[in-house]
Amino acid sequence: MTTYVINLDLPGAVQSRHLYGHFAEHLGRCIYGGFWVGEDSDIPNERGIRSDVVEALRALNIPNLRWPGGCFADEYHWKDGIGPREQRPRMVNTHWGNVEENNHFGTHEFMDLVELLGTDAYVNGNVGSGTVREMSEWVEYLTRDGDSPMVRLRKENGREQPWKVPYWGIGNEAWGCGGNMTAQAYADLARQYATFLRDHGDNKLYRIAAGANVDDFGWTEALMKSVGCVGCNSSGVASPYQAISLHYYTMSAEWENKGKATVFTDDEYYATMANAWHINTLLKRHTTIMDHYDPCKTIGLVLDEWGTWWQVEEGTNPGFLYQQNTMRDALVASVHFDIFGKYADRLFMANIAQTVNVLQAMILTDPDTGALVLTPTYHVFEMNTAHHDAHVLDVVAKDAPVSRKIGDKKLPALSASASTKDNSALISLSNLDLDHARTITLDLRGREVTGVTARILTAPDVRDHNTPDAPDAVAPREWTEISRVDGGLQVELPAHSYVTVSLDLA
Ligand code: AHR
Repeated sequence: MTTYVINLDLPGAVQSRHLYGHFAEHLGRCIYGGFWVGEDSDIPNERGIRSDVVEALRALNIPNLRWPGGCFADEYHWKDGIGPREQRPRMVNTHWGNVEENNHFGTHEFMDLVELLGTDAYVNGNVGSGTVREMSEWVEYLTRDGDSPMVRLRKENGREQPWKVPYWGIGNEAWGCGGNMTAQAYADLARQYATFLRDHGDNKLYRIAAGANVDDFGWTEALMKSVGCVGCNSSGVASPYQAISLHYYTMSAEWENKGKATVFTDDEYYATMANAWHINTLLKRHTTIMDHYDPCKTIGLVLDEWGTWWQVEEGTNPGFLYQQNTMRDALVASVHFDIFGKYADRLFMANIAQTVNVLQAMILTDPDTGALVLTPTYHVFEMNTAHHDAHVLDVVAKDAPVSRKIGDKKLPALSASASTKDNSALISLSNLDLDHARTITLDLRGREVTGVTARILTAPDVRDHNTPDAPDAVAPREWTEISRVDGGLQVELPAHSYVTVSLDLA
């Protein structure tokens, strides 16, 4: 039996709600057919934006939404996406499916979506095929008040007041689709672009430089070196950007052989889980480099693309990255969140890729009927909302059973995390073992527990998933296999399950 010791009275760093961030790219059916159906659609919408999608995402309290890419960001020219829709220039989306982009969803539509969702905007600018002036004018158009050329243009297009845009990406994947640059070339460009990304009025930009892919530690080193020492003893020169990003996707094998979303062997499942755990090593190594240059942790790390990447579903456009989502995806998400908390003092934001109809989505919509399905991953996000902006609590395992050896690595059978806010705590428990249930003892110290409730997400088979015909095949329910024991609680965790325990504290 495994015991987890949790000192409820020793809160650690705050884990930002932005760790539960989202990402919407002009890719496949994420924007068109996902968020955006247009004002004339039979599908209920508000100014062209699907109402059921907004309603579902509001229940997740999504903290921020990144847009318009991804790779698309570096070929997007924002002025093509303003003004009367029918007159907007068209372009080819060369990254994703080689389809025509009509630019009907542009700056005003995105900011409208952000307001409907009650979330923060994270706009990703174009470095790869854009200019400093273009990006600088976009910031002016969005955030400046008073009178100026871009403000007048915005007002001509119907928006009097500036919007708030807190987060700004300086290009995307500059090492690849964003321009195939060297680390040093991009580091220099990022400084230049950041200089002209102005704070207008009281809009303060948090500028995010395009960071490394997976284990490209040299890229992180180059960006941090370029910033110089910005720690407590710095020369007082502010960094041109406030954060650097990192991208990491989980597959069951290598890039060329990603595996299928719903058809996989047990071995592929365990290999996937081992790859999900790998984010811990990556965060450790990247943050170690950052600590060297910035010991006071003034520069944030932003994992603005993460999640599972499978082969596309049969019969769908290979460039649209449409995939199903099973209980396995849910556990990949829960493991990531447990690990994110450990780096809460450096990891400021994380964005799952992507919110609707692309990669590890929260929501899938049927292209023919429009039916909407919430995925198992959606439910993990919903079960985690109490972790937003809560203080991390250490979870110390007295005995963590190992379920599999993958190569020379031991894969833990269990994953856990906890946090506290006000007079409450939330404990997340994942049983990654496909065959064995586990009994967990929670040794809860330091504060009196006055109330306990629990919920579970599981399914008979880890391959189970939700469809329009069976929308609740994998859905959370109340969990009663939890009892008080001396000094804490005993919780039953069925095979391949995710359980959250909510505590009221005196
Ligand atoms: O999320 C899909 C793509 O993955 C993004 O456009 C790109 O940044 C990454 O390679």
